[in-house]
Amino acid sequence: MLGSPSPSRLAAVLAVTAGLVASVGATSPISVSGKSFALNGDNVSYRFHVDDDSSDLIGDHFGGPATEDGIFPPIIGPIQGWVDLIGRQRREFPDLGRGDFRTPAVHIKQSAGYTVSEFKYQSHNIVKGKPALHGLPSTFGDAGDVSTLVVHMYDNYSSVAADLTYSIFPKYDAVVRSVNITNRGKGNITIEKLASLSVDLPYEELDMLELKGDWAREGMRVRRKVDYGTQGFGSTTGYSSHLHNPFFSLITPTTTESQGEAWGFSLVYTGSFSVEVEKASQGLTRAALGVNPYQLSWPLGPGETFTTPEAVAVFSNTGVGGMSRKFHSLYRKHLIKSKFATQMHPVLLNSWEGLGFDYNDTTILHLAQESADLGVKLFVLDDGWFGVKYPRITDNAGLGDWVANPTRFPQGLPEFIDNVTKLKVANSSDHLQFGLWFEPEMVNPNSTLYHQHPDWVIHAGSYPRTLTRNQLVLNVALPEVQNFIIESLSNILGNASISYVKWDNNRGIHEAPYPGLDYAYMLGLYRVFETLSTRFPDVRWEGCASGGGRFDPGVLQYFPHIWTSDDTDAVERIRIQFGTSLVYPPSAMGAHVSAVPNGQTQRTTSITFRAHVAMMGGSFGFELNPAKMPDDDKAQIPDIIALAEKVNPIVVKGDMWRLSLPEESNWPAALFISEDGSQAVLFYFQIKANINNAWPVLRLQGLDAAAKYKIDGNQTFSGATLMNIGLQYQFNGDYDSKVVFLEKQR
Ligand code: GLA
Repeated sequence: MLGSPSPSRLAAVLAVTAGLVASVGATSPISVSGKSFALNGDNVSYRFHVDDDSSDLIGDHFGGPATEDGIFPPIIGPIQGWVDLIGRQRREFPDLGRGDFRTPAVHIKQSAGYTVSEFKYQSHNIVKGKPALHGLPSTFGDAGDVSTLVVHMYDNYSSVAADLTYSIFPKYDAVVRSVNITNRGKGNITIEKLASLSVDLPYEELDMLELKGDWAREGMRVRRKVDYGTQGFGSTTGYSSHLHNPFFSLITPTTTESQGEAWGFSLVYTGSFSVEVEKASQGLTRAALGVNPYQLSWPLGPGETFTTPEAVAVFSNTGVGGMSRKFHSLYRKHLIKSKFATQMHPVLLNSWEGLGFDYNDTTILHLAQESADLGVKLFVLDDGWFGVKYPRITDNAGLGDWVANPTRFPQGLPEFIDNVTKLKVANSSDHLQFGLWFEPEMVNPNSTLYHQHPDWVIHAGSYPRTLTRNQLVLNVALPEVQNFIIESLSNILGNASISYVKWDNNRGIHEAPYPGLDYAYMLGLYRVFETLSTRFPDVRWEGCASGGGRFDPGVLQYFPHIWTSDDTDAVERIRIQFGTSLVYPPSAMGAHVSAVPNGQTQRTTSITFRAHVAMMGGSFGFELNPAKMPDDDKAQIPDIIALAEKVNPIVVKGDMWRLSLPEESNWPAALFISEDGSQAVLFYFQIKANINNAWPVLRLQGLDAAAKYKIDGNQTFSGATLMNIGLQYQFNGDYDSKVVFLEKQR
C-alpha cells in the first residue's frame, strides 16, 4: 500500500501530513485523536474514524500494527454507476436502505414502519477495564488486561440510539465488540437484525475457515474460497449446534497453520447465530456475525434497550495456529469464570457407555468401586438415576422429574453418594469424588412435570409439539421454569456430596411461538447458569449437548469444560479435537477412553492409542465398563492414569501447536508447551500402516531455539535442531501412537 504512490495516492498521503486526519499514536491500548480511534494490541491495530461529511464510522485498518501516526484514507473513485460512496466505504456499522447494498449489520423497523436508519456519531467515552454485558456472558479483565471504547451513535429521524462497545485485550490481539440499541422515541420499534460485529477488509482474495458437523461428527474443519456474493452459515436450531460453530476465520490464500495472516471471529453466544461473509463487487470483503436474524424480530418499547452478544475478533500473522493460541489463552483466562479453568482435572469414569440405562444401586456401586480400584478419582453417574412415577429406565420417560428413582436407590441418593465417596482411590490418599448427570431444560411427556405444567414447554398454539428423542424443550424464557430448574438442582446439589455435574441438552427447538424466543431463552438460560454456578462454585460443571452440540464461548463462561463429542472413536476424535481446537482451548475439551469395537464406528484401536488421543483433552477419563475389558487392557489402566496425570497440567495450561493435521497427513501430531516453556509433550499418531515409505520427519515448533531439551529423559537437542531438523519415529501397524516428553535444560 505504501510503495511508489500514484499521483492521487500522493495527494492522499500529503493530505494526511497536512493534518486532514489527525495523528493516532500506537502506544496506549486505546488512542483517540479528534475523531480517529485506534485500538492497539501487541501485534494488532484496529482503526476507524468518523467521516466529516456523513458522521458515519469508517473502518481504516484491522491487521498488524501500523507504525505511522497517520491513517491513509483509501482512494475511492471516480465513482460511476449506481453505487455511491456509502456502498464503497469500509463501514463499522452498516445499515440498509441508504445505498449501501451490501449485507447490513443493523436493520430496524421503526415505529412508522420504515426500515431505513441513519446512525451518526455523537460522542464517545473510554472505560477502564471492561463492563460486563447485561444478562449475557462476556469476556472480562481488569484495567491492566483490557480497555474499552464506547462510541455513541444516534438516528435523529427515528430517535434510536446505538452504542458500539469496543474492547481491546492487547496481549491477545483481541478486539471485542457488542452493540446496544435503545429506543428513545415514543413508539415501538422492532429489531430485525443486529450483528455484534461487522468489519470490511480491503482484500478480495480470502479463504474462509469454519467448523461444520453433525451429531458425533463435530468440529470438521472446512476451508473454502470466499467468492462473490454472500456466503455464510449459522444455526437456526435454538442452540449453537453440531451443524456449525459460531466461529470462522478469514485467511489469505497462502496462510497455513504456521504462517500468514488470519482473522478469527468468535461469538460469545449459545443460541442461533449467523455468519455472513460478502465479497462485494467493489472489492471489499465484509464479515458479520451475530444472533440469527430469522430468530429475532425483537420488539423494543420506548426507553428499552437491546444488547447483542459480544463477538471476539483476533488477528494473527503467525498463521491459523497463532490465531488459535490467542483464542485459547484469552478464553482460559478471560472468559471461563470457573476456578477449575486452569486446574488439573481429576481422571474420571463416566457410566454412560459402560452401563447405559441398565443398572441399579448395586451394579453402579460396583462400577464405582472398580473405578476407585483402578485409580480413577471421580465417578460420574450418567443418565437413568431419576423418576418416581415415570422412572427413567429408557429415554422415553422421566426427564423433568429430578428425584432419585426409589427402586434403583432404595436408600436414597445422598446415602448412595456417601457410599461412593467413602471409597478409597488406589495408589492415592484420595476418596472417590462423585458427579451426576442432568438434562434440566428438557421434559418427557411421560413425566409428572409435564402432567403438572404442559404449558411450560415450548409450543406454538395448536401446532403439534414434535418430539425428538421422545422429549420436549422447557421454555427457559419463563421465570417460573428458570426457578424450577434452579431449585430442582439446588435441592440435589445442596443435600449430597456432589463435586461434578454434567449438564446435557439433547434436542433443538421446534415450534417457537415467536421469533425472539431464541434470544429470550438464552437470557433465561444464562440466568440459570449464572445462579447455579455462583451458588455451587466448588462443583465442576461439564457442558454437553448430545456431545459437542453446544461447544461455544457462551457455555464456557459458566462451565469450564464441555463433552466434545458422543463419538469416542479415537481416529475420529483426532479430527474432532483438532477441529475444535481452532478456537477452543484443549483444557475445555472432555475426552474419554471407551470400549472397542467403538460403538459409533465399530473400529478397534489399542487402549494405548485411545488413551493418547483422549489425553489431548483437558478433562480426561474413561467411559466403559472395566469388568468387560480384556485383562491385558485393564492391567494398563493404572499406568495410563499416571501418564494422563503427568501430561494434564501441560495440556490444561500450555500452548497447543498443531504440527500436522489429520485432514492432511497419515501422521497427525500436536505439541503442547507448558506456560513457562520448561516442559512440552508431543502427541504423534500413525493412522494407517505404511510400507516401503520413509518414516516422516516431524519438525517441532514453538520451542526456544537456543535452549536444550532432553527428549524422554535420554538425548538432548537444541530447540533449533528440533525445529529445523526434527524428530523421526518408527511406527508399528494401524493406529499407533507416541507420547514424547521434552524437558528444557537449565
Ligand atoms: C447424550 C450425551 C451422552 C449421554 C446421553 C445420556 O447423548 O451426549 O454423553 O449423557 O445423552 O442420555
